[in-house]
Formats: sequence, C-alpha cells, structure tokens
Amino acid sequence: MRKPIIAGNWKMYKTASESASLVQELLKNVSMVIDREIIVCPPFTSLDIVVKSLAKSNIHVGAQNIYFEAEGAFTGEISPAMVKSLGCTHVIIGHSERRQYFGETNQSVNKKIFASLKFNLIPIFCIGETLSEREANKTFNIIGTQIKEGLSNLTKEQMLKLVIAYEPVWAIGTGKTATPEQAEDVHAFIRKELQKMFDKDVADKTRILYGGSVKPENIKELMAKENIDGALVGGASLKADSFTKIIKY
Ligand code: PGA
Repeated sequence: MRKPIIAGNWKMYKTASESASLVQELLKNVSMVIDREIIVCPPFTSLDIVVKSLAKSNIHVGAQNIYFEAEGAFTGEISPAMVKSLGCTHVIIGHSERRQYFGETNQSVNKKIFASLKFNLIPIFCIGETLSEREANKTFNIIGTQIKEGLSNLTKEQMLKLVIAYEPVWAIGTGKTATPEQAEDVHAFIRKELQKMFDKDVADKTRILYGGSVKPENIKELMAKENIDGALVGGASLKADSFTKIIKY
C-alpha cells in the first residue's frame, strides 16, 4: 500500500557535469522501474542540469535544504520558491548534518517544513539519535521530541504530504547500519507517535525511510520490515551501479 521510495542524498559531492553523467547512467538502468518512487538530491549547483536531464523521466529531483523565507536579504541562502521554479519536487529537511554542523533545531526545521509545503515541495523530514543518546537509552525520547517539535502545528492534510526519514546519526557514513530490528523498532515507534499526534490514517499512509549506510548488501533485509518504506541513501547513491542495485533490491 505504501509505495517504496528510494532517495539519493548526494551531499556536497558532484560538480554539475559530474551530476549530469551520473543521472544519464542512472536513467539507462532504472527508466523502466515503476514500482518504486526514485528521488535524487544533488547539490544546489547541479539542480538545474539534473532536472533538465531527467525531464519526463520516472526520477524526481529534490534539494538538500532550503531557507524558510520566500526571499529577502539572506546572503548565501536559497529559497523554496527558487528550487521549486527549477522543477524540484522534494526537499530534504533537518538532515542530521545540518543539525550537527549548521545549528538547525527542531524549531527551524518546523519553519522549513511549512515553507516547503507553501511552495508545494514535499519535505523529506529527517530525524535520528546520536550514539551517546542511544547508549543513554534516550532514543525514543529524542525521536519523540524531534517529531513533536518538528511537526508542530501541521494539519493532517499537510502531514499527509510529508515523507519521514529515520537516520540514526551513528549509522551515517560510518558503515555501521542499524540492524533491521533496531530500525524497525524505531519506525514502529514513529508510526505510533504519528497516530497519537494525527490519526490512524496518517500513521498508515506516511512513508518512513531508513537512512544510514544503506548498501546493495543490506537493502533487502531492511525493506523486509513492515514499517520500513524505503531508504535515504548517501554514499551508495553516488555511483550509478550501487544506487541501481538498491533501487532494484
Ligand atoms: P550514508 O548517508 O548512506 O552515506 O550513511 C545517509 C544520509 O546521510 O542520508
């Protein structure tokens, strides 16, 4: 019922021309795939060429971040209107690297979710605990707070547009994937929280992706879990070959 989403987060990799070649290769491999939603999130400087290369294809394009104002004197920032006008459909919001290195909080993430929705961008809302939080048995506390504050004041109709990505910080780029059971526990918890905050319909329909060292070798077992509806892939999305294998798991 929930169509799987495989999304690639390219982070700060790939020039515009490198991006164009990567998507050309990817298109050759996955243009016939219809049972997955495929999204690539290149850096801002590659969005234009990637959107153009993927026009009329089955691959959607997302930005990795936006600022929450529509325009203004905010040197160095990019607005949701700007990425929308290029042809992007999605935007990653609150990635742990943005929270860790660029001071994003649940409150700024909440503003960015509203700003994305205002411009018809689908937010991929990221949450996840750090290693020390997990070791201190605070995982559910942290995730619960990130959900409550990040999704604060959203209506049910707005929430139905979102995608959630659970990415344990200790599993990102480290080669340490959460076990499918560890991921499933948190995904099930997130779904329960959605039911409490919104209703069963939202809980049943919202797609919750797992992220953190997803590779061709572990995607199948992760996707076998009831509450895992897809993956947000970093490192392994930078090569057409590995990303294709993940898409076609
Ligand atoms: P990774 O990154 O797959 O390289 O661990 C995932 C992410 O940060 O979205």
